[in-house]
Amino acid sequence: MTELLDIASEAARAVGEPLRKAFRSRPPVDTKRDFHDPVTEHDRAAEETIREVILSHRPDSVIVGEEGGTTGSGEVTWYVDPIDGTANFAAGIPFFCVSIAAAVDGELVAGVVYDPVREDEFTASTEGAWCNATPLRSRGAARDREAMLLSSYPTPRDLEQHGQAALERYAGLITSFAAVRRLGSAALKLAHVAGGWADVAYGRLSHPWDVAAGALLVRQAGGVYLGDPLVPGDYLAHVNGFDLAGSALADASR
Ligand code: IPD
Ligand code: CA
Ligand code: CA
Repeated sequence: MTELLDIASEAARAVGEPLRKAFRSRPPVDTKRDFHDPVTEHDRAAEETIREVILSHRPDSVIVGEEGGTTGSGEVTWYVDPIDGTANFAAGIPFFCVSIAAAVDGELVAGVVYDPVREDEFTASTEGAWCNATPLRSRGAARDREAMLLSSYPTPRDLEQHGQAALERYAGLITSFAAVRRLGSAALKLAHVAGGWADVAYGRLSHPWDVAAGALLVRQAGGVYLGDPLVPGDYLAHVNGFDLAGSALADASR
């Protein structure tokens, strides 16, 4: 499986330089589902490059990309988010990444989360999880009152659907956790939980390209990722030893 990790790494790094160049150029922004869902020409160009690198090594690939949809057929399925955190990228906030994961027979076997600004490369395989070749250990706080929660909850959609109840739930999180941050990249949030630099990550209605690589990072670093990252839906991840049953987020695990 090293081969698949090497391919993912090569593909992610191939877009590092163009993304660094485009960063803080205030590129024109188009929107997709609604005005909260931005995309730039750099998202599309990066996905094109990533697809070319993957297919040059493994033409027998299914590629599930955020911008280009699902293409191809074969043994390996790749989940590609060319820029996770496009709103940050487009504005000029250095918290975005490239996220690429590979699965064989429905099992995640390789994942890369690459932060082109810090030049941090988070990698995971069936052998372990690393940041720039240093092994990751997902250890941290045991209780909410000592824990850093990374979450963009509630989203505009949560507020449309649940109104006051969503705000009250959010208030419960803010008052229970030591700190709550809305950082804006699911993949990079999960990489931080894998590193033990944040304790919990929670998000709603994510896609496999957002979370597949990050889920493998968390699990291979010894942390917990609840749910199936290859099925769209909510995600919840935490460091090893965190008391989820006693947490204000316990309701999210049911
Ligand atoms: C988004 C980010 C954000 C999460 C959204 C995702 P994008 O991805 O991961 O943190 O809250 O659900 O859609 O659009 O920047 O690739
Ligand atoms: Ca994304
Ligand atoms: Ca994206």
